[in-house]
Amino acid sequence: MRLAAAFIAVFLLAACDTGTEQRDAVASTRAIQRPYLPVPPGSIARGTAARQAALAAPGPEVTQELMARGEERFRAFCSPCHGVSGRGDGTVVARGFPPPPSYHEERLRVLAPEQIVQVITHGKGRMFPYADRVLPEERWAIAHYVKALQARGSGAAPEAIRP
Ligand code: HEC
Repeated sequence: MRLAAAFIAVFLLAACDTGTEQRDAVASTRAIQRPYLPVPPGSIARGTAARQAALAAPGPEVTQELMARGEERFRAFCSPCHGVSGRGDGTVVARGFPPPPSYHEERLRVLAPEQIVQVITHGKGRMFPYADRVLPEERWAIAHYVKALQARGSGAAPEAIRP
């Protein structure tokens, strides 16, 4: 009987211990709300210079890998609206989203890759910016893929475009 009581006491103490540990762990992760401090004038967010450098023309070298990446990213992020051939006939448009202009219009055919990178980064009119979803290098890859689509002409199949 005494032995049983001793066992129970040990179990209870062990339970107390883990309880204490868990409470400590919770306390250390509790968020502390500090008063709002305005950003001092002239502050620049960390990583700004690197981000700007990554977006500056001429961008990364155009290789087969870059073009393949561009095609894959274009199909994922742009073709839902712009269509796989860039004619502005993506599936989202078929469901009522305002159609984007065709990449094969004269006004867009003359866009430089860096201008396309800018549109992806900042959006344009009804098009949302994609800066938070598409990495700078991928923006260049997509831009070169769009140029390749344009070079092929509006009627061409978008398959197997390589530099
Ligand atoms: C949700 C639909 C949608 C998606 C996704 C989308 N766009 Fe657009 N895009 C538009 C619309 C709509 C316009 C026309 C914007 C306007 O003039 O109001 C446009 C315009 C453009 C233009 C022409 C800008 C100009 O100078 O007139 C380019 C280039 C472009 N998009 C590239 C892209 C690329 C590259 C992607 C993928 C990263 C992409 N878009 C994804 C809807 C989309």
